[in-house]
Amino acid sequence: DWTMAAFKETEIRKVREQVGSGRVICGLSGGVDSSVVAVLLHEAIGDQLQCVFVDTGVMRAGEAEQVVTLFRDHYNIPLVHADASDLFLGKLEGVSDPEQKRKIIGATFIDVFEEEAKKIGGADFLAQGTLYPDVIESVSFTGGPSVTIKSHHNVGGLPERMNMKLVEPLRELFKDEVRALGRELGLPEEFVGRHPFPGPGLAIRIPGEITREKVAILQKADAVYLDEIRKAGLYDEIWQAFAVLLPVRTVGVMGDGRTYDYVCALRAVTSTDGMTADYFPFSHDFLGRVSTRIINEVRGINRVVYDVTSKPPGTIEWE
Ligand code: XMP
Repeated sequence: DWTMAAFKETEIRKVREQVGSGRVICGLSGGVDSSVVAVLLHEAIGDQLQCVFVDTGVMRAGEAEQVVTLFRDHYNIPLVHADASDLFLGKLEGVSDPEQKRKIIGATFIDVFEEEAKKIGGADFLAQGTLYPDVIESVSFTGGPSVTIKSHHNVGGLPERMNMKLVEPLRELFKDEVRALGRELGLPEEFVGRHPFPGPGLAIRIPGEITREKVAILQKADAVYLDEIRKAGLYDEIWQAFAVLLPVRTVGVMGDGRTYDYVCALRAVTSTDGMTADYFPFSHDFLGRVSTRIINEVRGINRVVYDVTSKPPGTIEWE
């Protein structure tokens, strides 16, 4: 009968068979999925694995430090920290179409991985934390016609021009199963319990054009929001929570002055697999507190709204 311990052993065996004596590059995003892949592969193939953390310039505040610390210090898994923020932000300049953003980011990830592979004398495989819902949603929408809802950056459009073959040990798993596998592999609980974070990062939480200034504003608002969620003890009740920076400016008043700044939308949902979701019923007190803090502490935002859309008909991310 099926246990996570047995699944782990089977996957380790499969990875060894697939990879042989080849070299594998694994992109670490800081999320649960890629972390689980990295630790699993490290157990399977040891130093045939090279992990790369790619700083896309559209990460949450403080993300890079947390990941680098976990892997280098806690696991002793060698990790390259590739700062590609100029590259990503440069390519995204002037782009506002959501699908185009996703495609640019997916392709740029591959460029960076290939660059890093060259530095270690070549790699035969690229490991990714693709999950079952990523596979399904990039292909069709359940119950509907076969249309692409979103090109998940780590599924769509990669392989043709890429030299490396894919290693995707989580392809048959749902998120809760990935978390169980993470526990089986001894990942710290605070890491296993992290909310999902999409590969395209804050780029798909800034509808319209992305600028460094907007990224910086969103990082601050997002950090305040998550800080309040943790303080209220709600983090583990929520599947995912994040701020979105709308490309709309509205008029406000602060002290004696008029302001004309961006609108920040807050999103929080409950879900078991990300395929369907309900908005989280925060108390009005909580929402008021977060709104006040964001407007007081984050320059560039003078209005906060809360997204009460479920999935379907909304998606979890805004793009
Ligand atoms: P949506 O917005 O499609 O999101 O309802 C469902 C879940 O998938 C995450 N997501 C992504 N994860 N690459 C990822 O690794 C992507 O391109 C991507 N797009 C969405 C999203 O954060 C949510 O958990």
